Amino acid sequence: MCGIFAYLGSKSSIKECLNGLKLLEYRGYDSAGIAAIKNNKLIHFKASGKIEALEKKINLKDLKLDLAIGHTRWATHGSAIEKNAHPHFDDKQNVAIVHNGIIENYDILKKLLISKNYKFRSDTDTEVIAQLISSNYKNDLVESTIKSLKELKGSFAIALIHKNHPNEIIAASRESPLAIGFNDKKTEVIISSDPNAFSGRNLNVIFLKNDEIAHIKNQEIRIINLKNKTLKKTFEKINAKNIKFSKKGFEHFMLKEIFDQPSTIQKAYLGRMTENEGLVEFEDLKLSKSFLSKIDNIIITACGTSHHAALIAKSLIEEKANILVSAEIASEMRFKTPILTKNTLVIAISQSGETADTIAAIKTAKEKGAKILSIVNVENSSLSRISDSSIFLKAGIERSVCSTKAFSSQITVLYLFAIFLSRLKSMQKKEAILLLTELKKIPSKVRKILKNTSIIEEKAKKYSKFENFFFLGRNLMYPTAMEAALKLKEISYLHASAYPAGEMKHGPLALIDSKLAIIAFSSNKKTYDKMLSSLMEARARNAKILAFATKNSYGIEDIADDVIWLDNTIDELSIFPSTIAAQLFAYFIAKIRKTDIDQPRNLAKSVTVE
Ligand code: M6R
Repeated sequence: MCGIFAYLGSKSSIKECLNGLKLLEYRGYDSAGIAAIKNNKLIHFKASGKIEALEKKINLKDLKLDLAIGHTRWATHGSAIEKNAHPHFDDKQNVAIVHNGIIENYDILKKLLISKNYKFRSDTDTEVIAQLISSNYKNDLVESTIKSLKELKGSFAIALIHKNHPNEIIAASRESPLAIGFNDKKTEVIISSDPNAFSGRNLNVIFLKNDEIAHIKNQEIRIINLKNKTLKKTFEKINAKNIKFSKKGFEHFMLKEIFDQPSTIQKAYLGRMTENEGLVEFEDLKLSKSFLSKIDNIIITACGTSHHAALIAKSLIEEKANILVSAEIASEMRFKTPILTKNTLVIAISQSGETADTIAAIKTAKEKGAKILSIVNVENSSLSRISDSSIFLKAGIERSVCSTKAFSSQITVLYLFAIFLSRLKSMQKKEAILLLTELKKIPSKVRKILKNTSIIEEKAKKYSKFENFFFLGRNLMYPTAMEAALKLKEISYLHASAYPAGEMKHGPLALIDSKLAIIAFSSNKKTYDKMLSSLMEARARNAKILAFATKNSYGIEDIADDVIWLDNTIDELSIFPSTIAAQLFAYFIAKIRKTDIDQPRNLAKSVTVE
């Protein structure tokens, strides 16, 4: 993970870096740091914790410098303390470097450098790169960087400066994204881990490919390869001038993003369906209908919340389009041997489009000739750039580490995609009309939940006293329960395990007593009676039960201690009200427990290491 931001230009570079790092803070917030060159010497500032702590250490008045590199860290090698904060330096304090990624052979290189009397100050792998570049330096910074990069194994995005080169920044990338942008007047060059830090600017941007190096000198950018050969590149325009981040009066980004959902769900389907014709079309779908109509096997890969969306898509596509679907956790898929034929479609789901595990899984499938469709929120992300085609969520920026609106947009797009595929197969117009008409009613059902959050808040107060939770569901309510449990774990730091309710009697029932709370999702008509039986079994063993149930349910109030009533909808769409009510439940519990809701401990928004 980690965020890199570097600036060379006419404004105060350190101030620009601080602002850029704030926009990248969701990539990691264990520590932050900035380095620059002042009077031919490297200077730096570091602080453990968030950018705020770093900002407090800097007096901007004395620092009108043209160039700076900055970093916000998610710890991999070495704990989250100040000495491990980036930038890192060589022994002589000549080179300063910021890094995202993992150097796999750092230990061998470190031992080699120590044997040559290089002294190390941190526990990081990054410090090795700075020392290596310094050891290879003979007045040519580009050459010493190239030589050093050839010795590295692993993944990296780096930006570095050298005290003898006061007008230069070098950036390089291998298996880790890095974007370089400049404004039309060529008065500013910006290096960033991802385009989110470009907000408020209108830039010409290039994304470095593997083993490409950007040599920036006095605002001139040269892209070279490891042979020091200049590469011809076309920069693309990214206009992010009007993108602004605001909580819009909400206490947390998470709450704002939960409340965004009636509109973001709508944005995900608007212009993509004609409900009275039962038709779905995706703009710019670069996969031919003749290929799509022949698909007989789909592999969906993703992580975390996006994986829960994949599990829901699996059920929907298998049931509606009669196509075999497997939902693979991306970090596992890489090490499996998926069966890929000419009629296989691989789908990657990701909010950020930067998740390293998902990208790695996709790259492996691509190498084997699979066609890749990504369902992604961030346009211009690494994932969308390597896919054959992308469908964008259009949910807008999601700032809270805990994903909410991206999930409901993923479900919307995947629901449409299931109908789209089914129509290419055998789904009748009448069924498609019904499914699409019901989808259109979802935003107003969600609005109803959001209008009356006090009931959920009251239940959250009652259940915040528990330390252990089981989240139960069946059929589509099982991945819903998984997603709801993840929300609670992530932001409240409470233990929550999700099970298909029918599995309880095969082991987990042994854990039930009066200290355990069961959160039950019963909004699935097909499995409702069986769900009630499972809850009865838990109740008989003194569990406390809170159920999320639709208003037309019968009998649940006699079994559960508490019920949160939700609007009725068809089984295929019951995920929406249940999930959104559960997001609020987790939010209110976390608030009571006074956790850092938008930036929970140990986590980061974009997980860019494998
Ligand atoms: O950006 P992605 O959708 O690829 O991220 C995948 C997971 O890291 C992410 O969904 C994570 O589980 C969330 N923090 C959950 O709220």
